[in-house]
Amino acid sequence: LANRFTTGALAGKRVVITAGPTREALDPVRYISNHSSGKMGYALARAAQEAGAEVTLISGPVHLPAPDRVTLVSVVSATDMLAAALATLEHCDLFIASAAVADYRPATIAEQKIKKAGDEIQLTLVKNPDIVATIAQHKNRPFTVGFAAETNDVDAYARAKLERKNLDMIIANDVSRQDIGFGADDNAVTLYSKHGSTEFTVMNKALLARQLLAAIAIQLAVL
Ligand code: CTP
Ligand code: CA
Repeated sequence: LANRFTTGALAGKRVVITAGPTREALDPVRYISNHSSGKMGYALARAAQEAGAEVTLISGPVHLPAPDRVTLVSVVSATDMLAAALATLEHCDLFIASAAVADYRPATIAEQKIKKAGDEIQLTLVKNPDIVATIAQHKNRPFTVGFAAETNDVDAYARAKLERKNLDMIIANDVSRQDIGFGADDNAVTLYSKHGSTEFTVMNKALLARQLLAAIAIQLAVL
């Protein structure tokens, strides 16, 4: 029973997965972040390990236990996550970006706690590097899979991201649905490649992770 899902489809493959939110500091006590729970990324890490891969999980701050037999690299900001991702590049066959990376960070981090003053405060934010796009640009790039978190026009936005970021596959997530996505134990997604798309109906994230990796492993094998 324990080996029911040990397909070995990723035996010998080195898989790197980003997961969770990033936190972008404003000052020593405050940050900008998002509601990502990390559950999907952690489920993918577990499923990849079970499928025989050597797995590195690069995780932002989450409330989840480290998966067994997975190398966990804990990071905080998008800048840290990019550095950790680039450090794995030489030894990576498959890169899956499930992290909800903050798109912007405060332009400066105040050294001291920002004091309450006027009735309004203005923050200047600067764009963070795009981690998955940076990986996908590399000469010796791994097979690269991204996620697309969308509230509307899921299909069009997901296909556009697949192209723009030069990804091999993208997993689109409708985050406007309350029953799935951020924080939920279940998810429903569509997996796109340049060859077409596959729908995965709502199911437990652990089961979905296994099914997604089975589909990804098939594409990886034909390369
Ligand atoms: N991503 C990343 N680095 C960033 C932003 C996003 O690696 N700075 C990755 C995510 O991990 C995901 C994919 O890019 O795999 C798409 O993330 P998403 O937030 O849906 O897309 P964005 O390109 O940031 O566009 P937008 O938020 O405007 O929809
Ligand atoms: Ca984004």
